[in-house]
Amino acid sequence: MKIGLIGLGNAGSQLARVLHRKHLGLVAIFSRDYDKVSQTGKRKRIFYTNDLADFPKDLDLYILAVPDDVIGEVAATLSHLVEGGRVVHISGSQPSTVLAPYFERHGVFYPLQTMTKGRRIKFQDVPILITTPDDELRQDLLDLAHKISNHVHIISDEERAWLHIAAVIVNNFTNHLYALAEKITDARDLPFDLLRPLILETAQKVQKLDPQKAQTGPAARGDQETIDRHLQKLENYPDILKVYQVLSDSLRNR
Ligand SMILES: NC(=O)c1ccc[n+]([C@@H]2O[C@H](COP(=O)([O-])OP(=O)(O)OC[C@H]3O[C@@H](n4cnc5c(N)ncnc54)[C@H](OP(=O)(O)O)[C@@H]3O)[C@@H](O)[C@H]2O)c1
Repeated sequence: MKIGLIGLGNAGSQLARVLHRKHLGLVAIFSRDYDKVSQTGKRKRIFYTNDLADFPKDLDLYILAVPDDVIGEVAATLSHLVEGGRVVHISGSQPSTVLAPYFERHGVFYPLQTMTKGRRIKFQDVPILITTPDDELRQDLLDLAHKISNHVHIISDEERAWLHIAAVIVNNFTNHLYALAEKITDARDLPFDLLRPLILETAQKVQKLDPQKAQTGPAARGDQETIDRHLQKLENYPDILKVYQVLSDSLRNR
């Protein structure tokens, strides 16, 4: 299968790496940033361009790794250049149908993992969730996904939308809480490093335990005096105070 990848951001660059390393048919890449795309293209010895009009028109699969909000816009542009192509995006939140007005043969190839440029992802552990109404495309996407990951599933747009909400909670919100904690340690001249083993153990124990069983802390124990002391200390940090209150209430209500 000849694959073209559009977008070399956090997710696109990781996908490019695994597709190339495993010889899965990545033959062309596009980014608006010429330096970036030429560097990657030369390194991988594949076609590269920063002008979509030059992108190869005869590929078996076009993967859009662009921000959620521009998927439709990029698909619209591509549809003027590539007729009858097979196009997927890799977003958790956008439905497959966002591509439908532009490409009859469309789908989603969603790697459920946080991806940041420069960090190496072990793709074999990353769930890849596939959605498409096209039987032949579904089979090709399944074959491709199985060569990358040991966790491949077919799901609907609706299921992926709910999973994406859950993913935002466990990943983005959790990371934001780290940032709030860092605000406190920085303000008090304490090393954030002291919290890293705790962060790690919290993430590791939930691999084995149900999250509700793994829960500890003052709100889970019902230690109201401790909570009140914390709330008093946080008076000068209204943004953190608000989050602390909302999460403590949520914990108590369980
Ligand atoms: N990062 C993750 O953890 C993750 C995980 C799973 C799925 N995803 C999905 O992957 C997709 C990309 O996300 P990302 O995190 O990789 O975003 P990103 O880091 O912002 O990268 C997006 C890429 O698209 C290019 N781009 C932006 N606007 C464009 C436009 N109008 N036309 C053409 N190209 C444009 C960017 O700029 P240049 O052209 O300037 O390079 C960049 O190469 C999203 O659908 C996201 O939901 C992300």
